[in-house]
Amino acid sequence: MRWGVLPLVPALVSVAYGQELESSPFHADPASIGVGKASFRLRCSACHGIHAEGGRGPALNRGEFEAGETDLDIYRVIARGVPGTEMPAFGQRSTEENIWRIVSFLRTFEASADDIVEGDPARGEDIFWNRGGCGGCHRVGQRGGVFGPSLTRIGRSRSVAHLRESLLNPGGDLPPDYYVVRVVTRQGKTVRGIGLGFDDFSAQLMDAAGKFRSFLREEVQAIEREFVSLMPDTYGETLAEDEQRDLIAYMQTLRGEGGQR
Ligand code: HEC
Ligand code: HEC
Repeated sequence: MRWGVLPLVPALVSVAYGQELESSPFHADPASIGVGKASFRLRCSACHGIHAEGGRGPALNRGEFEAGETDLDIYRVIARGVPGTEMPAFGQRSTEENIWRIVSFLRTFEASADDIVEGDPARGEDIFWNRGGCGGCHRVGQRGGVFGPSLTRIGRSRSVAHLRESLLNPGGDLPPDYYVVRVVTRQGKTVRGIGLGFDDFSAQLMDAAGKFRSFLREEVQAIEREFVSLMPDTYGETLAEDEQRDLIAYMQTLRGEGGQR
């Protein structure tokens, strides 16, 4: 083991006894930060991007965190996860030291402007509920449709890159659990909808009218799962570039409580 600096030892002893530290003991230790970076690539980059630039998860390279300002705030999110979201709890699968190393790695980023959208959120909100028709399928808080995922906290959960991708290229990075069920009935009619359940005997889906439907395999010609999006893929053409930016700026402001669906 190569901790390098001796004064770290008391801190590590208190870690070993399960007493929470207030801040990472590794900030001044490049070797530990390197280990933190490697762990991040292995366990976090699939969602947060290889350079912490964000993806399906929020960008973590902005030098600031929703979870709070202190090292301990960041430590706790990593250890406990964010219940009801895709952010898993790593407390059981990772040593405390290793989580602190990752915290130190995340502290190496200075504030960056990458994740800020130049757009007018108020105009975006208007497009969302009116011309864009987004509210017909998506919920924000109590308002809106249920066909697509709730966007109540989308600005907190996702990076700007993911929001842009979701708007212009739906299906490029589907949220987990989002699949489509396609059923061909005995009469040859095709029904497609958001899959709510799928097993060897039956499938349940929500159709475009928001109606819950259930089918038994033995009663239909075919039941299939498709990993495609039922969101229109035409917004790249029907919305001007500044309107797209406004929409993304609006979605970035959505930081409320609530689950993903
Ligand atoms: C399966 C995807 C996924 C993985 C893997 C993942 N995260 Fe996350 N993470 C998320 C999502 C989604 C959120 C936003 C949760 C919310 O809506 O508040 C998040 C939130 C966070 C936050 C809070 C951000 C803030 O601004 O407060 C931190 C810090 C974080 N993750 C660190 C990590 C670290 C470190 C790892 C690896 C050890 C990791 N995450 C692995 C998806 C993931
Ligand atoms: C016909 C219904 C429908 C309409 C209209 C619609 N969406 Fe979607 N949207 C979906 C579905 C279904 C998904 C989940 C599959 C996917 O990610 O493509 C989705 C996914 C998303 C996501 C990704 C959510 C996540 O958790 O990652 C965003 C962001 C989004 N839509 C924004 C918009 C915006 C903005 C508009 C209006 C310009 C819009 N949607 C219009 C159905 C719709």
